[in-house]
This record gives sequence, structure tokens and C-alpha cells, in this order.
Amino acid sequence: MHASRPSAGLIIALDFPTVEDAKVFFDDHIAPIYASLPDLPTRPALIVKVGLQLLYQPGCMEWLDTLKQQQVPLFLDVKMFDIPSTVRGGVRSLVERYRPAMITVTAVPQVVTAAREAIDCCFRAGEASTQLLGVTVLTSMGHESALYASFVEPETLVTHMAGAALDNGADGIVCAAQDISRLENSLERPDKSMVSLDDFAIVTPGIRFSGDDKDDQRRVSAPEDAIALGANFLVMGRSITRASHPAARIEEVLRLLDKA
Ligand code: C5P
Repeated sequence: MHASRPSAGLIIALDFPTVEDAKVFFDDHIAPIYASLPDLPTRPALIVKVGLQLLYQPGCMEWLDTLKQQQVPLFLDVKMFDIPSTVRGGVRSLVERYRPAMITVTAVPQVVTAAREAIDCCFRAGEASTQLLGVTVLTSMGHESALYASFVEPETLVTHMAGAALDNGADGIVCAAQDISRLENSLERPDKSMVSLDDFAIVTPGIRFSGDDKDDQRRVSAPEDAIALGANFLVMGRSITRASHPAARIEEVLRLLDKA
């Protein structure tokens, strides 16, 4: 089920207020890069992420159909969290229509299991399938928010949620770069054997070039630091979409990933 997946990449978060704004940004700054990238299986992937802000805008579903026809790798950041039958149905609807490269659910066992079942129904054996990612602790959450939500420190919560994702069939996790080394040393399977992160997509948001505003993110890292800490997919929104030369930043991060 997991043939020819990219092992590293830059994920650009298109968090714009309207589909028209996202389209203009895509056409001006991302489409030309796709046109110039060599079609090598080993190069870092350039993935377009659409999340809650854009998905609920009129015209978004139709624009995603167009991007799919153009074979743009899509990341649907829906962070689904619901009862298993609804998750199964929701994931299946999205995967059947868009065949996204990646999709997110909240890293809770029954949610991850339901999403895995839905994805596996949509692909034949040997086909490159949608990567299922479990979202752990949000990069905007500090100690107080994690304690409020779960009564445990973010460090404990992230281990707990990453374990739930990887034990229940996720292909990777979304976490802060600062969480990765702790996870490498603390993820145990029920039989006490250690989980190796080498086999999973480690997707890290909260990425900022030095000097950029942190905005609402709390646990941020520079692209080169996140890669050094073990991230293989970087999620970048405002540090690219608000830059004066977005394409130069995209190319810089792709070069860093390529060298890693
Ligand atoms: O603009 P910025 O780079 O902060 O955007 C980060 C993106 O990653 C947003 O689209 C946000 O929804 C997403 N994300 C996140 N933290 C997570 C999971 C997803 O910031 N844990």
C-alpha cells in the first residue's frame, strides 16, 4: 500500500481568507516552481496544504478538483475527530474525491483506526496511497493549554498521542520539532519493544525563518533546526505566504531538505 512515497518535503499551508486569494498565490508563486522542478523520484516533494480556513470557503472543493487534475500533491489538514463511523465516512469521501498525498486526524486510537480502514478501502495493494497523519499536541499549545486539555504536561501528552497514532496504523505524526528527540526515545509498543521513527513521516509545523513573527505559534523552529532535529516534512504557512519573495523561500527550504 505504501509504494513510491516521498520521504521528505515542504508543505505550504495556504491559509487564505478566500479561494481567490489562495489561487492567486498558488498561480504566482507555487505553479512556476512545479513547472521548473526536475521530475526525480528522490527530490523533496512540494505539497499544498489546505485546512479549515479555506475548506469552508465557497469554491474550495472545485478548486481542489482542478489541483488534483493538475497532479498537485494535496494535504487535507482536516484534523478529523468524531465517532468511528463518521470518521470512516468523512475520510473516505475526501480520499475518494481528491486522492490527497496526506490527510490528518486527531491522534486518538479509534479515530486513527477508522481513518486507516477508510483509506485502505480506497487503494489497491501496491498503489501509492494517502498518508494518514495523527495530529499530536498543537504547536500553538504551551504548558497551560496542554494541562487544561488533558491534565498532563505537553511532553507526556505528545508521547501518548504519537504512540496512539503509530500503534493504530498512521503513516506519520504531526508534532513540534522540539518533540522529536523525546519521541525517539520514549515510544514503546504494548509488548515494550521500541518504535523507530525512521519508518514514519514526521511532519512539523511552527516553522519560522529567523526574524519572522511567531504569530500564534508557541513552539517554533527554524527550517534547518527542524530538519536537524529529525523532521522530514516541514509545514510552512505565513513565513512563506507573507514573505516579499515567497518563491525564493520555497526554493531555499527545498534545497535544505535536499541536502539533509
Ligand atoms: O502560518 P504557520 O506556518 O504558523 O501555519 C502552520 C500551519 O500548520 C497552519 O495551517 C496550522 O493549521 C497547521 N498546524 C499547526 N500545528 C499543528 C498542526 C497543524 O500549526 N500541530
